[in-house]
Amino acid sequence: MIDPNSIGEILYSPEDISKRVKELGKQISEEYAGKEIILVCILKGSYVFTADLSREIDVPCSVEFMQVSSYADSTVSSGSLKIIKDINVPVDDKHLIIIEDIIDTGITLNNLKKMLSTRNPASLKLCAFLDKPSRRKVDIEADYVGYEVEDNFLVGYGLDYAQKYRNLPFVAILKEEIYK
Ligand code: IMP
Ligand code: MG
Repeated sequence: MIDPNSIGEILYSPEDISKRVKELGKQISEEYAGKEIILVCILKGSYVFTADLSREIDVPCSVEFMQVSSYADSTVSSGSLKIIKDINVPVDDKHLIIIEDIIDTGITLNNLKKMLSTRNPASLKLCAFLDKPSRRKVDIEADYVGYEVEDNFLVGYGLDYAQKYRNLPFVAILKEEIYK
């Protein structure tokens, strides 16, 4: 069982999350009316958000999965992205929305956006459930954001610490003594 003492403040309850995800789904459905979209779920963190958001979208949509890792030393290779799993469909002339759990430094999304743009999609937008703008190292903004958050290490709703806590149905602050 997850040690309840490792979890600090709960920022978003399952009810908060469900309400916000419905709003995002409605907004996306309205903006893409008459179009078809491909949701690009960035594994692993965004699997929960993608599952919920996709069920709140009522325009035709498919879901593809990608797993990437940004090189840790951003000063050396911020332009490079290691693709662990690529999507296996052509995206030219398709409307893509990249779905992320959280934008932190922005390096991952910035690189992904550049990389997917070279495949000539009809459009490319970014949707992140959480956004930590105070930590940004590159200039990137998501088109759709669930919540803007302060600089804390968060877990739950797909977000992990050492691969755990993803299954928590809420978003909480991980206590500092767990990772410091
Ligand atoms: P970025 O390239 O720094 O924007 O990296 C974003 C990635 O870092 C996310 O997809 C998460 O996997 C991870 N990340 C950033 N902040 C947190 C957090 O507070 N909790 C869990 N994972 C995080
Ligand atoms: Mg992630």
